[in-house]
Amino acid sequence: MAPAPTPAPSPAGTRSGHWSTSAVVYQVYPRSFRDLDGDGMGDLAGITAELGQLAELGVDAVWLSPFYSSPQRDGGYDVSDYCQVDPLFGTLDDFDQLVGRATQLKLRIIIDLVPNHCSSDHSLFQLALAEAPGSPARDMFIFRDGRGEGGALPPNNWQSHFGGPAWTRTADASGAPGQWYLHLFDSTQPDFNWDNPLVHQEFERILRFWLDRGVDGFRVDVAHALVKAPGLPDWGGTAWGGSIDGFPGHEAPMFGQPALHDIYRRWRGILAEYGPEKILCAEANVDPLDRMARWVAPGQMHHAFNFPYLNAPFSALALRSVVDASLAAFGAVGATSTWVLSNHDVVRHATRFAYEGAGPRQGDGIGAGDEQPNVEAGRQRAAAASLFMLGLPGAAYLYQGEELGLPDHTTLPDASRQDPTFARTERARLGRDGCRVPLPWREAGASFGFSDGVPAAGVPWLPQPEAWGRLARDVQSADPDSHLATYRSALGIRRDRGLGTGTLTWVDEHCSDTTVGFLNGSTLVLLNAGPSPIELPTGAILQRSRPRQAASRQLESGETIWLAA
Ligand code: GLC
Repeated sequence: MAPAPTPAPSPAGTRSGHWSTSAVVYQVYPRSFRDLDGDGMGDLAGITAELGQLAELGVDAVWLSPFYSSPQRDGGYDVSDYCQVDPLFGTLDDFDQLVGRATQLKLRIIIDLVPNHCSSDHSLFQLALAEAPGSPARDMFIFRDGRGEGGALPPNNWQSHFGGPAWTRTADASGAPGQWYLHLFDSTQPDFNWDNPLVHQEFERILRFWLDRGVDGFRVDVAHALVKAPGLPDWGGTAWGGSIDGFPGHEAPMFGQPALHDIYRRWRGILAEYGPEKILCAEANVDPLDRMARWVAPGQMHHAFNFPYLNAPFSALALRSVVDASLAAFGAVGATSTWVLSNHDVVRHATRFAYEGAGPRQGDGIGAGDEQPNVEAGRQRAAAASLFMLGLPGAAYLYQGEELGLPDHTTLPDASRQDPTFARTERARLGRDGCRVPLPWREAGASFGFSDGVPAAGVPWLPQPEAWGRLARDVQSADPDSHLATYRSALGIRRDRGLGTGTLTWVDEHCSDTTVGFLNGSTLVLLNAGPSPIELPTGAILQRSRPRQAASRQLESGETIWLAA
């Protein structure tokens, strides 16, 4: 039965006119984008060399995951110096060149800011360990005495996102056990104490350091976690803040605390000193959507990744419902939605959609022992889902490689796995390596053109699936019907027809249990998520997710089309 017609929420009051409200941002995961020095690890020079490809693709901005000094225990989200480039990736000069090239190409550069925690190698944490309990150095972090006899039990029951307790006990110089410190992630990622004004000062300094170097904004890592509830009370829900039996509707004491929003209002003020175009993007993975919308309330951030959208299955009803809820929640605070389907923490959507239902949960990978996906079916659905997303009004984030329709590596050898989740859960959760595999640039040659360099080099830090040669960028560049060509063309049409700044109206005759259709201005976007083909309505075909269907007036199962209405 078709759902009852619902008027789409009015976008009235959105901060129209600002570039961010309709931007398409491309996420680069530097370790895996392009390796010019041949050490098997991507680098800044590699990104600079390929920025032209991203400009040609038609994105507005590039978000770089961390490239700062780091022991790389969590792929660089464990920062030991926020104002230095890790030698793995290059130098500050390389960064300046990257920004210079982006400016020539009219691409904006957004960098990742990791304020919840640093690396345990950071000099501030090393100092905290060296100083006594109660010292100002310790107060930069969250140190507590343990519970139970001799303080042998963690100060509370919080669990790490990556498995195991969120507390690690320290030892003093003589080896005697001491206080515990909090780490919501790996034990090498101690949480900062955001009740301490010196932590605020330190991050304001870091913001200015990069703004002075010309960045256009920041993606703020775990932007919902910085401030913890007073007293650090026990929590009965999941490590990532979800409710479980006995804790319905409870808000986790480590997420979404009201004082967070003062921090972002302050940061927004700092950005404003550098001009109105600088932006903040929240990774605030909280439920439900109207709570997430607090991060994009006036005077705070510009974007908040729409995780309920990312988590939605490939289903007409689910998509319609999450789009409605998103437009309502973000519209209520005068913001547009920030759509996203993939990133470096989730199984890529080309692989998720190869399964029925929602697929594996965030942070869990797929391994050789699991049911293997139907790669082609997943890629077709991924193209359909992407074309649907790019037809929506609002901003959108793309994750490197999705324009090639890359699937996850689903048979990575365990010996290659590097995500701390794998070890911390004693291999129960495989972790996120499968979506982080280095990109294929050329069909021929070692590492599919990911690594250049001396002959001995070229072994990528994670192995690539053998089948990736035929998905390489050079193959797809030469094929007008490829995934890459579809993205390029869709981004051009999106720009020309103003889809990002448009308004959505559901078209009831195209909305059913299996199909979902809306008008965005004079563009009809129609997705067939059902098992059988349907007849197309009238209208010139602007773009389809399976361009090989050319002029067919049927919309295949798992296909999206844009028609001129
Ligand atoms: C964010 C990042 C993820 C990282 C975590 C801890 O969720 O996206 O990759 O592991 O924060 O910094």
